[in-house]
Amino acid sequence: MEPRTVLVTGGARRIGRGIALHLARQGFHVAIHYNSSEAEARAVAQECGGAELFQANLESVASIEAMFAEVDRRLGGLYALVNNAARFTRFDPLDITERDWDFIHSVNLKAVFFCCQQAARLMLRSGAGRIVNISSLGGIRPWADHAHYCASKAGVIHLTRALAKAWAPTITVNSVAPGVIPFGPLDEESEAMVRLTPAGKPGTAEDIASAVSYFLNATDYVTGQLLAIDGGLSQR
Ligand SMILES: NC(=O)c1ccc[n+]([C@@H]2O[C@H](COP(=O)([O-])OP(=O)(O)OC[C@H]3O[C@@H](n4cnc5c(N)ncnc54)[C@H](OP(=O)(O)O)[C@@H]3O)[C@@H](O)[C@H]2O)c1
Repeated sequence: MEPRTVLVTGGARRIGRGIALHLARQGFHVAIHYNSSEAEARAVAQECGGAELFQANLESVASIEAMFAEVDRRLGGLYALVNNAARFTRFDPLDITERDWDFIHSVNLKAVFFCCQQAARLMLRSGAGRIVNISSLGGIRPWADHAHYCASKAGVIHLTRALAKAWAPTITVNSVAPGVIPFGPLDEESEAMVRLTPAGKPGTAEDIASAVSYFLNATDYVTGQLLAIDGGLSQR
């Protein structure tokens, strides 16, 4: 059987890197998208045993379209897409400007939609596909100083459900919502969240990657679902 091809957006660093490495170990043919982290992306590609690399600023729909045309040309289609790339900022909602709003929504929600659309065209053509959108605990629980980010991630969760309906039964569309996944010392806000976490610890990229892998390997009867990987924090 041909190895299944998966594109991981924002795959050069942190959670995206963990997802790419995990899927490569499982035998997926991994392709890595990056924007500015070229050196890191090259290193991950090597660790994945020679992953294909795609550069694009996902703020631009034209760049997204060009990237998927290139994916089709170089990979001959796509089995799976993991929409992982995103931005995160913190502002008092009274201070948010139009620019701050668009900075988050252009990547976190608009780009996720257009990447799904482009990938779906390739998947519908081949007759099968899997999409996993990385959302956030912030799309489930409201965080006062991240209202703009929370709105973008709640949008990703509901977009996931709508697209699951639109493209069933050919393509499954599911979402993984990470809780606190640190890559350095915890800030005060994250420390407070970990204290409230039933599991009593923060999560890891591997925790998120194994949930992504569940959806990529699940049958086509698993679609439109949200899996929070947050140590139980969303249940408090
Ligand atoms: N870490 C957490 O605690 C946590 C918690 C909840 C949810 N999440 C979600 O999990 C996912 C990964 O989290 P993370 O912390 O690993 O993310 P991150 O490091 O903040 O960002 C991941 C990647 O997104 C890419 N990206 C940002 N803006 C872009 C743009 N305009 N065009 C293309 N790519 C762009 C960057 O690629 P380059 O570096 O190549 O520029 C970056 O490496 C995100 O969806 C995040 O919202 C994370």
